[in-house]
Amino acid sequence: MRVGMLTGGGDCPGLNAVIRGAVRKGVAAYGHEFIGFRDGWRGPLENDTIALDVDAVRGILPRGGTILGSSRTNPFAIDNGVERIKDNLAQHGVDALIAIGGEDTLGVATKLADLGVNVVGVPKTIDNDLSGTDFTFGFDTAVNIATEAIDRLHTTAESHHRVLVVEVMGRHAGWIALHSGMAGGANIILIPERPFDIDKVCAQVESRFATQYSPIIVVSEGAVPAEGGDMSLVSGEKDAFGHVRLGGIGDRLASEIERRTGKEARAVVLGHVQRGGTPTAFDRWLATRFGLHAITAVHEGDFGTMMALRGTEIARVPLSEGTDQLKTVRPDLYDEVEVLFG
Ligand code: F6P
Repeated sequence: MRVGMLTGGGDCPGLNAVIRGAVRKGVAAYGHEFIGFRDGWRGPLENDTIALDVDAVRGILPRGGTILGSSRTNPFAIDNGVERIKDNLAQHGVDALIAIGGEDTLGVATKLADLGVNVVGVPKTIDNDLSGTDFTFGFDTAVNIATEAIDRLHTTAESHHRVLVVEVMGRHAGWIALHSGMAGGANIILIPERPFDIDKVCAQVESRFATQYSPIIVVSEGAVPAEGGDMSLVSGEKDAFGHVRLGGIGDRLASEIERRTGKEARAVVLGHVQRGGTPTAFDRWLATRFGLHAITAVHEGDFGTMMALRGTEIARVPLSEGTDQLKTVRPDLYDEVEVLFG
């Protein structure tokens, strides 16, 4: 078989481990050939390919990013996008595709599978917001990076008696904020799923200062105040999938807290640092297993499926199960930690 691979959406530590796992097993166990498509769905759309064999995947396991490149190209938003993809796959003699991506990339994969393209999906996103799988790879790395930052910010916050607001990624889901905030001992965690009350946040800030400690607030980029409004939006810019570019809630929150409490407050935006660099051991393990299982699914002709972590096992679920609904933080998980705030 000739198998195409692509990585789409925001990059994420562990992508290379998936590619390596699939290629190494595909060649050694099944004698398959591979072809890489560059920059997500742009590759098959514009016929942009890269050689992908065992030599090409040597040494990439610990490397962040993706050797295939990534983009947020949406073929369904482009005239004749689907036909062009089908033609280019046929031209290269591609029998099946492994698409590694988040809600958007796998959303496209789901629709293409419905249109008869042989595709298997692998879930990736630092946001951990794909349904059907217990975890996506990349999330653990992002949480570890954010936790280390929080640990460091505690000492400088205390030296200067300041509030430090740490803005982490998570467009619609607060998983990174919740896990890193808990691991780093944040005094307040704000997530998109639970609009926050600014008066309550300020009261928690003041009670924290009353114990002679300086508060650390971890806030997801998508968090919003309870009154509603668009505090989190920096611009109206949207990507090809219609997502507004987020950011700015950290700064807005810091100035609001300073204004209301009189305490000096600073914001730190971790941004793309959370997505860069080498994956943690857990993410390498998960990504490698996803790659090994994805090529077996392809070999067995089990198309329209997505690899999923269920407990410690890798399962196959319908692609639509991963993309139909975002996996957001359950209310009880947030309630559980709220007792530690302030
Ligand atoms: O989807 C992963 C993610 O890192 C989100 O957490 C974030 O909102 C978004 O990508 C940022 O996208 P970009 O790098 O395209 O600005």
